[in-house]
Amino acid sequence: MANNSNLGAAKAAKNDEFYTQYADIQKEINAYLEYNPNTFRDKTVLLPCDDPEWSNFTRFFAQNFERLGLKRLISTSYAVESKKYKNYEPTLFEMDSPIFDADKTRINGKIFELNRDADGSGRIDIDDLEWHYLEGDGDFRSPEVCALRDQADIIITNPPFSLFREFVAWIVSSEKDMLIIGNINAITYREIFSLIRENRIWLGATGFMSDMVFGVPKGTEVDPKDKAKAQKLGYTGDYTRLGNSCWFTNLDHGRRHQPMQLMSMSDNKRFGKHKDIKEYGYLKYDNYDAIDIGYTDAIPSDYNDAMGVPITFLDKYCPEQFEIVGLFGNFEPEVSKTYPALICGSDVRFMKIPGLTTGPVVNRIAKYKRVIIRKKQ
Ligand SMILES: C[S@@+](CC[C@H](N)C(=O)[O-])C[C@H]1O[C@@H](n2cnc3c(N)ncnc32)[C@H](O)[C@@H]1O
Repeated sequence: MANNSNLGAAKAAKNDEFYTQYADIQKEINAYLEYNPNTFRDKTVLLPCDDPEWSNFTRFFAQNFERLGLKRLISTSYAVESKKYKNYEPTLFEMDSPIFDADKTRINGKIFELNRDADGSGRIDIDDLEWHYLEGDGDFRSPEVCALRDQADIIITNPPFSLFREFVAWIVSSEKDMLIIGNINAITYREIFSLIRENRIWLGATGFMSDMVFGVPKGTEVDPKDKAKAQKLGYTGDYTRLGNSCWFTNLDHGRRHQPMQLMSMSDNKRFGKHKDIKEYGYLKYDNYDAIDIGYTDAIPSDYNDAMGVPITFLDKYCPEQFEIVGLFGNFEPEVSKTYPALICGSDVRFMKIPGLTTGPVVNRIAKYKRVIIRKKQ
């Protein structure tokens, strides 16, 4: 029988294999173009975790090479023998090529490049992609791919989930621009949060409340609810919807400069939709000098001191409206049905923590992690 650690490893391996859909890439890229039509002009774009024959990132950027005004597109893939999850067959495209190599196809990475009208059709497009095997396996950390990173202006992809921290550090150390997909929970990783607080990265243009659908390896077990949601969005077969995915970037887009429309504190207490705020008002933490606000839409427009808000606030964060002071909390309160909600009547997800905690606590009740913000003066 498979033991737990084997099952865990198999799950982690599969967690690295989520394939982004063309429509989601298009929607995100269009938002940058709306804000600045020259975002990608004369830029070298590197897609470093993208099997070029399958990846919708490669397809999208190759097909839109001229529209975006790209200088060069480079797309590299990771060799199947190096992947944790091995599920691969070479494509006819590769097998029909004069440079096909039955060994290299399994142990070497591949590179596809686009920067010229190779077929003389009069335009640069997907048919002009030229490829060869990499010397190594295409690991983004390999010297070969690092050298490609150093030649690039923007690094774009959906990287392996298990290496997200390392992947961001890999980009940040080279001071390149980025547009990558990750899990919303990555916001609370110390290194990622520091970058967000310093406004060196932020969330992308597609709000994370909008469902993104991903392809999964054939036969992957998918939660029926997620499968049904993917189907509703028109994807049948090996697809899942991941409600907690979002884009991380340091490219500017218009949505992050739109301030939230907020009510004053007294209007929230009188007319707001949250029962607990109407009943108890805004309560201070026991262990930090700030008020706790469980809902982003209840942030008062006229409060000038520190406020703790849910991490989902970052989806609405406008740097001209608020500054980010810090992240409060390094634990998740357990769900407790037995311990009654004491203060904030409608929030049943918290419990009393015996003893001290470094996370947010209101009237001795632990709260979820909060982002501490302050209104820009
Ligand atoms: C989440 S998938 C996304 C694939 C593609 N970027 C997309 O969005 O459809 C991440 C891919 O990175 C590959 N990968 C895993 N470890 C890698 C590494 N160290 N270097 C490069 N690619 C890696 C995985 O095998 C997987 O194909």
